[in-house]
Amino acid sequence: MRVYGHRGAAGHRPENTLASVRHALALGADGVEIDVCLLDDALIVLHDDTLDRTTNGQGPYKSWDLTALRALDAGDGERIPLLEEVIALAIDRAELNIEVKEAGIAELVIARTLAATAASPAWRSRILLSSFDAPTSAVLARLRGAMRFGLLYEEPFEAALQRALTLKAQSLHMSLEHLDAAHVARAHAEGLAVYVYTVNDPAAIARCQAAAVDAVFSDYPDRVLAARQHG
Ligand code: G3P
Ligand code: MG
Repeated sequence: MRVYGHRGAAGHRPENTLASVRHALALGADGVEIDVCLLDDALIVLHDDTLDRTTNGQGPYKSWDLTALRALDAGDGERIPLLEEVIALAIDRAELNIEVKEAGIAELVIARTLAATAASPAWRSRILLSSFDAPTSAVLARLRGAMRFGLLYEEPFEAALQRALTLKAQSLHMSLEHLDAAHVARAHAEGLAVYVYTVNDPAAIARCQAAAVDAVFSDYPDRVLAARQHG
């Protein structure tokens, strides 16, 4: 079972920062997952619509200009990174799940990702694109090229499975709350890998292993790596 560090290694370092991504990679995670939004023509790595929870700024990020936002403290003196900065850390080294948080930016995410990987086109097959937003997913699926596409979903499993097949997704991204071994088997029978988020405690890690889940997202990738060694 592979492990993606969730928002870098959010259990150990401030989420969605370069320090968090570096830590996940240093721990030996197979990949990292980050959340991406748009501000002033820059793709920024941020989960929430507002800055209050993760930075010393306040209010919606959209009400800030990029220079001021980039000066904020995102924890431990870290800054809110750009997508390109995360790509520079992961390129030729690990898998990268770019979760597109904002609707309407899928084309730009693809274009910027292609530009940032121009020197290492082979690595593109280790990039995984996803979004909870259905229209965004459709665009990511259509324009993925050599990159991979995974379906993040909130609808009932069967409807999600059909959408994943229609979009020719390589993976189905399921919440831990909805983990069901029969669904994992059904997805596998249809040729889809199953990724589960967010898997942090040992019992949940063991459940995923028992259900033959292909990969998990974890704030503590070290725990999944330890379980894998002992399992
Ligand atoms: O992409 C998996 C997971 O990150 C989805 O949930 O809210 O942590 O972005 P969230
Ligand atoms: Mg995410």
